[in-house]
Amino acid sequence: MMTIYWQHHTCLLTGATGGIGKEIAKALAARGVTLLLTGRSQEKLAELHNILPGKHILLCADLNEPAGMEKVVEAARRHQVSMLINNAGCNVTGEFHHMHPATLSTLMNTNLALPMQLTLRLLDQFLTLKQAVIVNVGSTFGSIGYPCNSVYCATKFGLRGWTESLQREYAHSPLQIYYLAPRATQTSINSDAMVNMNKALGNQMDAPQVVADALISQLQNNSARRFIGFPEKLFARINGAFPGLVDNALIKQLPTIKRYLATH
Ligand SMILES: NC(=O)c1ccc[n+]([C@@H]2O[C@H](COP(=O)([O-])OP(=O)(O)OC[C@H]3O[C@@H](n4cnc5c(N)ncnc54)[C@H](OP(=O)(O)O)[C@@H]3O)[C@@H](O)[C@H]2O)c1
Repeated sequence: MMTIYWQHHTCLLTGATGGIGKEIAKALAARGVTLLLTGRSQEKLAELHNILPGKHILLCADLNEPAGMEKVVEAARRHQVSMLINNAGCNVTGEFHHMHPATLSTLMNTNLALPMQLTLRLLDQFLTLKQAVIVNVGSTFGSIGYPCNSVYCATKFGLRGWTESLQREYAHSPLQIYYLAPRATQTSINSDAMVNMNKALGNQMDAPQVVADALISQLQNNSARRFIGFPEKLFARINGAFPGLVDNALIKQLPTIKRYLATH
């Protein structure tokens, strides 16, 4: 158990305007955290700010653009951010051979390079603090290679591996690094096709508040890794130890997966 002094923290939250980001923002603001909220729409940021207790900083920026990244890093340094939640993300489903090369780059940048770059740029500052926190929002798909989601899976596997390396590398520092893996959650990252596929396969989809609650309890309990949902967390473990079993299960579901997610 680690005592976390929420009111002492100033947090840079990426993807604050998204389904999960909004709930994380509400949970942290309710605990007295000062937030630097990022997203690409000023209107959505202002709407979010209106419903939050306290006063927060709004940063409208596309983090895949150099100018957007500079704006956010500069503000994070000026406001002496002590917590970074790498939550912004995107997905485009479909068979790999139909993926546009530009889409591949956007997914790799947004889900993997961007959290790494932001962390790198803020690390010196974090290492001077008594307590600093980084949370990387991964996915069940960071542990299970899922058909028609191959690039998204690659980014989240990468995020998980990078997080684990950092956790070990900075074990003797004041930096606490966490990996949080939601399962399917009801937000706009999931296309109608993905939602319908989940329904057809009987896959549970959580409300985004479930993810925010998990994040709060993960930090309070100082759990390095948190996987949300059963049977997903069991499936992730089985996939690590006996991937052949999961091959069989997913290949059985392949016609259904392709019916919804294959692009033509
Ligand atoms: N929902 C799920 O089923 C699920 C499951 C597992 C993990 N996750 C992970 O949870 C995290 C949050 O996703 P979500 O479900 O809340 O998705 P979402 O509702 O689509 O929100 C995505 C957020 O990321 C922001 N974003 C995307 N690209 C950006 C860029 N280039 N620059 C700045 N901001 C950018 C979006 O900003 P705009 O509002 O400006 O578009 C939005 O705030 C992601 O990392 C996702 O991979 C989600």
